Amino acid sequence: MKLVIVMLVLSLSMFAQDKESEELKKVMNSFASAMELIQHGILHNNIDEMNKGAKMLRTDDESFLESHGKALIRHMPENPEFAKAYAKRTGEKIRNYADSLDEQIGNRTKSYSKISATYTHILHECVGCHQKIRKR
Ligand code: HEC
Repeated sequence: MKLVIVMLVLSLSMFAQDKESEELKKVMNSFASAMELIQHGILHNNIDEMNKGAKMLRTDDESFLESHGKALIRHMPENPEFAKAYAKRTGEKIRNYADSLDEQIGNRTKSYSKISATYTHILHECVGCHQKIRKR
């Protein structure tokens, strides 16, 4: 009986872990779609696409760390405090860059070089976390 309970608890916690990882992947894939939209918008002078991409980035980033902290930490069990602090900082940066994108897209002069520079800053944040925290 004890063994059955242990197995049940173990499989339930694995199920929860899988679910957390799936949720994190969902956010990540949405981030990726947002970035593709922004890039497509930049290259095709399409303001709507850029706006839509920036909006998607911000929505997914809002509770990014709070909702996905556990799944993130699993990638860096040896230093969970660093993973949390890093994710928090990166989340703030992505949000600030998304604000800059909004401003630059809304600006009458529409400087595509400024918009693409901000896009590149965001991409650096994505890659930075993938290199530091993501293990696979
Ligand atoms: C704070 C850390 C962090 C940031 C910031 C981050 N990622 Fe990720 N990303 C991860 C981790 C961890 C995984 C691996 C998830 C897993 O497989 O459990 C991942 C996975 C992914 C994947 C693969 C998802 C899949 O289905 O396997 C994509 C695509 C992705 N990220 C895109 C992005 C983009 C685009 C950005 C920037 C806008 C970004 N990420 C920012 C940590 C981060």
